[in-house]
Amino acid sequence: MSAPNSDFDPVRTSSLHPDELARMVREALAAIAAATDLDELKAARLAHAGDRSPLALANREIGALPPQARKDAGQRVGAARREVAEAIAKRQEALEAERDARVLVEEAVDVTLPWDRAPVGARHPLTTIQERVGDVFVAMGWEVAEGPEAEAEWLNFDALNIGPDHPARTMQDTFFIDSDGPEPSGLVLRTHTSPVQARTMLDRSPPIYIVCPGRTFRTDELDATHTPVFSQVEGLAVDEGLTMAHLKGTLDHFAEAMFGAGMTTRLRPSYFPFTEPSAEMDLLCFVCRGDSVGNPDRPCRTCSSEGWIEWGGCGMVNPRVLIACGVDPQRYTGFAFGMGLERTLMFRHGIEDMRDMVEGDVRFAAAFGMEI
Ligand code: PHE
Repeated sequence: MSAPNSDFDPVRTSSLHPDELARMVREALAAIAAATDLDELKAARLAHAGDRSPLALANREIGALPPQARKDAGQRVGAARREVAEAIAKRQEALEAERDARVLVEEAVDVTLPWDRAPVGARHPLTTIQERVGDVFVAMGWEVAEGPEAEAEWLNFDALNIGPDHPARTMQDTFFIDSDGPEPSGLVLRTHTSPVQARTMLDRSPPIYIVCPGRTFRTDELDATHTPVFSQVEGLAVDEGLTMAHLKGTLDHFAEAMFGAGMTTRLRPSYFPFTEPSAEMDLLCFVCRGDSVGNPDRPCRTCSSEGWIEWGGCGMVNPRVLIACGVDPQRYTGFAFGMGLERTLMFRHGIEDMRDMVEGDVRFAAAFGMEI
């Protein structure tokens, strides 16, 4: 007969009772099921399957049982712990799958979203066309010249043989700049880029080959074909032996460079005080290229079936202007031309309303891109 097992204390080992183990398992399973994310599940695992969990503690109690009771208790505790461990593994798998699915949705990159949240803006086509004009002439060895927009009245008019009584001086055309004192300021907003001719000739001696794109001002109302602030490009060549043939060749090259091969110009007699002889310069119609002339079946709206459209003015520099600017007319001759850049841009790109070029809406400018 064996002696009574004095180590067996039913109070200390009450955690091994089947009912008690079943309660622990129930609590554990409830906590596992209640875990809504992986962090909560981790907390439930620590509480119900960790080293200090009731089931782990119960496991330790087994050693205190008499040998004949150990196997039974060991099996019960083992089964309880396995049940909890399996429930944790299953829940873990489900929560991980849930997290992965959520991450796929929440962290998805929508490659169709616009990437340029800060639009870069656009250069204005009037700026880029001025650069293009400059490039065309620089390629021929000409230089780009500049003059001020607030110009001396003398350079804008007198030096160009526009006498004090010339109608272009009246308030209808010219913005005069107020003076502070009793004397007039002597300044105007330049009404054309031609004063740059006078400035250049006063500044240096021939040979002179310059173009001057820039802003000009006249007291016009803003409408589809007029704007009080507009742009011109002026050309001036002064050298020995220059003739109108040089002027015509230069204009034809310029027309081709701006509008494509085969585009020519036509000169019509006209009058400017600063050129003699003077001519109005027409551009071959860039739409019908003259095909509409005498061809009623194919009328052209752009040139009214005339085949040509007006582009600017030109002529041989008036000797009086050469003299006023200190150039010897016995030795030198010169030719000059000037045209509106808004019109040039309208021709090139089919722009119908000049106001689009003035209003500064970036959507208009952006359509031209960075290059023209
Ligand atoms: N300055 C003239 C204008 O504004 C154009 C022009 C320039 C004519 C040069 C002849 C020579 O209309």
